[in-house]
Amino acid sequence: MPLSMITGPTAGIGYAFARALAAEGHDLVLVSRDEERLQQVADDLTATYGVECEVLRADLSDLEHTRLVEARLRKEPFDILVNNAGFGVNKPFHDSDLEAEQAALDVMVRAVMRLTQASLGEMLTAGRGDIVNVSSVAGFLPRGTYGAHKAWVTSFSAWANVRYRHQGLRVMALCPGFVRTEFHQRMDADMSDTAEWMWLDAEEVVRTALSDLRRGKAVCIPSRRYKAIVGISHLSPRGLTERIARRNR
Ligand SMILES: NC(=O)c1ccc[n+]([C@@H]2O[C@H](COP(=O)([O-])OP(=O)(O)OC[C@H]3O[C@@H](n4cnc5c(N)ncnc54)[C@H](OP(=O)(O)O)[C@@H]3O)[C@@H](O)[C@H]2O)c1
Repeated sequence: MPLSMITGPTAGIGYAFARALAAEGHDLVLVSRDEERLQQVADDLTATYGVECEVLRADLSDLEHTRLVEARLRKEPFDILVNNAGFGVNKPFHDSDLEAEQAALDVMVRAVMRLTQASLGEMLTAGRGDIVNVSSVAGFLPRGTYGAHKAWVTSFSAWANVRYRHQGLRVMALCPGFVRTEFHQRMDADMSDTAEWMWLDAEEVVRTALSDLRRGKAVCIPSRRYKAIVGISHLSPRGLTERIARRNR
C-alpha cells in the first residue's frame, strides 16, 4: 500500500487531497491541530476507502511539534508528502499581531522547508517520492507577507523539482487562485465582492494538481483563468502592480 502524509487535511484543499489519495488506496498520516476533527476524517476515510489512517496532532507553528512530524517522516519512505497547512492574517501589516505573522511564516515556510528535508532522505534511498507544496497565485503578486511566503514556496519547489528529478523524485508547487474552503472564513475576510468566476472548487484543484504532479510539472496553476492572470501579471506595467500592492495588506 502506498503511504502519504498530508498537513492540514481536516478542511478545504487538504481534505480534498486526503479523499483523492485514499480513493487511490494510499494509507495516510494526517497532521493538524484539531485532534477530534482529524480522527473524524481518519475514521470516515477508513470506512469509505478501507485505507489505514494515522492521526498526528501537531501545531506546525510550534517547532517541537514540527520536529515530531519530521521524526515520523524519517521512519520510513513516504510516497507523497503534501505540505498544505496554512492560514491568512487579515490585518494591515503595520497593525497586525506580530506573533500571528510569525506563526504564519512558521507554518507556511519553516514547516514546509523542514518537512521537505525530513522526507527527502528516505525518498532518495527509495529512488522515488512526490512532494506537493501548496502555494498560491498570491506568490506571483505583491500581496504582503502571505504573498512573500508563497513566493518562497513556489521558488523553493521549482528549484527542488530540478535538483531531485534525476533521482526519481517529483516536487511541485501548487498555486491556486481563490478556492472555496474555510480559509477566508477562518481569517474573517469579507469576500462578498469577489466575482463568482474567480472561485475554484477544491476537488477540481486537487485533480489538476495530481495530474500535473505525475507529468513532472514544477509549478501547477489550476484553471485557464488563473494561468492567464499570472501570465498577464508578468507582462503588466509597473503602475498596475503598484496599484495591487497598495490595495493589499
Ligand atoms: N482557499 C484559498 O483561496 C487558497 C488559495 C491559494 C492557496 N491556498 C492555500 O491552500 C492551503 C490550504 O488552505 P485551505 O484554503 O484549504 O484552508 P482551510 O480550509 O482553512 O484549511 C486549512 C487546514 O490547515 C490546517 N492548519 C491551519 N493552521 C495550522 C497549524 N498551525 N498547524 C497545523 N495545521 C494547521 C487546518 O487544520 P486545524 O485547524 O485542525 O489545524 C486545516 O486542516 C494553505 O496553504 C493556503 O495558503 C488557499
